[in-house]
Order: sequence, then structure tokens, then C-alpha cells
Amino acid sequence: MALFGDAKLVLCLFFAICCYMTVTQAEVPADCCLSVTNAEVIKHAIVDYRRQVAGQGCTLNATILVTRRQKQLCAPASERWVEDVVAHVKQLRKCCNKAKCRQANKKKRCLGVKAE
Ligand SMILES: *[C@@H]1O[C@H](CO)[C@@H](O)[C@H](O)[C@H]1NC(C)=O
Repeated sequence: MALFGDAKLVLCLFFAICCYMTVTQAEVPADCCLSVTNAEVIKHAIVDYRRQVAGQGCTLNATILVTRRQKQLCAPASERWVEDVVAHVKQLRKCCNKAKCRQANKKKRCLGVKAE
């Protein structure tokens, strides 16, 4: 019986610590890139991107590339290949927002692409 009591206390403490950490971390964007990869990605797998600017809660300049499956990759802020991928995403978005263009290309290409 005493063992159960201890387990409950530990569990309670565990949740208290968890809650506390969630609250304190809320001030920092949870999705900061802490490092970037220079392994080039296939641009056709990327459907979205975001810029991460150092000093706005994050410590690094980076470009966050989002795949069709919502996986986020941390890429350098302004490498040539990254700009190439970004240009591709912009073009994709533009097309996928126009029914005519969307139908001309396969609909599948627009899967997971955000509206402008
Ligand atoms: C991040 O980029 C900005 C310009 O976009 C630049 O002024 C700043 O120095 C960069 N910071 C780092 C840590 O590279």
C-alpha cells in the first residue's frame, strides 16, 4: 500500500515538473532550428518554407523547409540551393492557387501546398 502511495507522489511530481516546463518554454517558439543541414533536399518534396530570423526567440538564421508530409528541415538562411527550393515553392503555390494551372499540372502536385 505504501508503495502505491509513493508511486502516486512520484507521478504527481512528474506532472508538476512537466507542466512547469511547458509554461516556461512557451515564451520561446518551440520550432527553432538549432542547427542547419547542408545536405541538399529534393525540391519536389518541399511544399512550404519559413524564414527563421536570429534574435526573434531563435539563435540562428535559417530557412525551414516543410515537406509534403509536414516534416520540417532546417536549411541555411541563404545558400544558393535553398533559394532554388524557395523559388520552387513560390511557383508551386502560385500554380496551386489557380484552378486552371492546378488542373493542367497533376492535382497530386498540389497536395499539401498551402494557399497563398
Ligand atoms: C541574420 O540575418 C540578418 C539579416 O537578415 C543579419 O543582420 C544578422 O546578422 C544575421 N544573424 C546571424 C546570427 O547570422
